[in-house]
Amino acid sequence: MTNQTWSRGLEGVIAGDSTICKIDGQAGKLYYRGYSIEDLAAHSDFEEVVSLLLNDRLPGLAELEEFRARMRGARALHPKILEMIKGFPPEGKPMELLQSVMAYLSGYIEHKIEHSAYCNCRQTLHQVAQLATVTAAWHRFRRGLPDVKPRADLSHGANFLYMLRGEAPDEEEGRIMDTCLLLHAEHGFNASTFTARVVASTVSTCYASVSAAIGALRGPLHGGANERVLAMLEEIGSVEKVEAWVKRALAGKVKIMGMGHRVYKAKDPRSVVMEGFLETLSRTKGDSRHLDMLRKIEALATADFESRGKKIYPNVDFFSGSVYALLGIPTELYTPIFAVARIAGWLAHVLEQRERDNRIFRPASLYSGPDPRPWVPIEKRGNHG
Ligand code: COA
Repeated sequence: MTNQTWSRGLEGVIAGDSTICKIDGQAGKLYYRGYSIEDLAAHSDFEEVVSLLLNDRLPGLAELEEFRARMRGARALHPKILEMIKGFPPEGKPMELLQSVMAYLSGYIEHKIEHSAYCNCRQTLHQVAQLATVTAAWHRFRRGLPDVKPRADLSHGANFLYMLRGEAPDEEEGRIMDTCLLLHAEHGFNASTFTARVVASTVSTCYASVSAAIGALRGPLHGGANERVLAMLEEIGSVEKVEAWVKRALAGKVKIMGMGHRVYKAKDPRSVVMEGFLETLSRTKGDSRHLDMLRKIEALATADFESRGKKIYPNVDFFSGSVYALLGIPTELYTPIFAVARIAGWLAHVLEQRERDNRIFRPASLYSGPDPRPWVPIEKRGNHG
């Protein structure tokens, strides 16, 4: 054991090979199946990206139409699922609900899954379609409002906003929401995706894999940094107070939320797209308070970091919370929205894990406990209380 090394949090360890996502952290580039996130954000939509992630290639026209129809046709929830959501205590946290519902769903599909690895999530699509509906229904019930039945004539993102609000968003808001989902759909071997793959490697179902992944995403070290960015903006208060706040934060080694990334050592390409959305929404809503503050924070902090040779730039969370806030979405939905998007990547990885030479994950650990010792009868164990 003495010559063995290990890596905390598996940092730098290659835990598998994958064709789904490439991140070039130095250059600040992200690709799904070889297509840049900038191209996908500009020309594609969430449904097409789900098809790309699950099927390994961009669909043709007829294929995409058929895919959309299947996904949209799977949006509505079984009445028993709605009952389950309604019965969730109002003080309960949404991620636990999502985790339970996604596992519970396995009993409520027409063709009943066989509880084997080969339940066909690539064909049924209901998990991807319904996670948005489940999230919106939770939001409505919690406010004492009836759920809103999904509409099949809207994109995934626009329909999600519609189900939250009870009225359809305008075209621009719908496109922004849909592209936000696209930007979060996949990001390599992060903690939740790795969790999904570990579960899939045991030849478990895609329901169990997705449910476990939601559990991993629930933790504040994974989901939720955008909520903390909003809290930071609230704390600062106004653009005039940014300079003094940033100086104080940097001097006191307080981390600036939404900046820095384990992988990206340049500006996260998703944050560039998000910044554009925030600019658009700030203009149309006539409220640029957050945008002005964020830009000033970025300029001041980046200049300071660069002067000290540190590569710390805005990550995807820097602008996203403010985008959601201008779309009228409350903060408790930010991590659930992450799940609504990332389920696409989770399922792509589940399928890849199963279909490409699966081997159950079983890493070793470095034992640092006591040497073997004799068992002690209870009356001789000393004073353990
Ligand atoms: N603000 C100020 N300083 C920061 C910083 C930030 N946002 N992010 C990193 N640093 C500093 C650290 O304090 C550390 O300084 P030191 O060398 O003087 O100790 C140095 O940069 C390296 O930081 P470290 O935490 O080791 O970098 P990492 O790559 O492991 O961490 C994060 C990445 C994301 C954990 C970190 O940047 C962070 O906590 N950011 C804020 C939270 C956030 O936005 N999270 C969402 C990530 S998608």
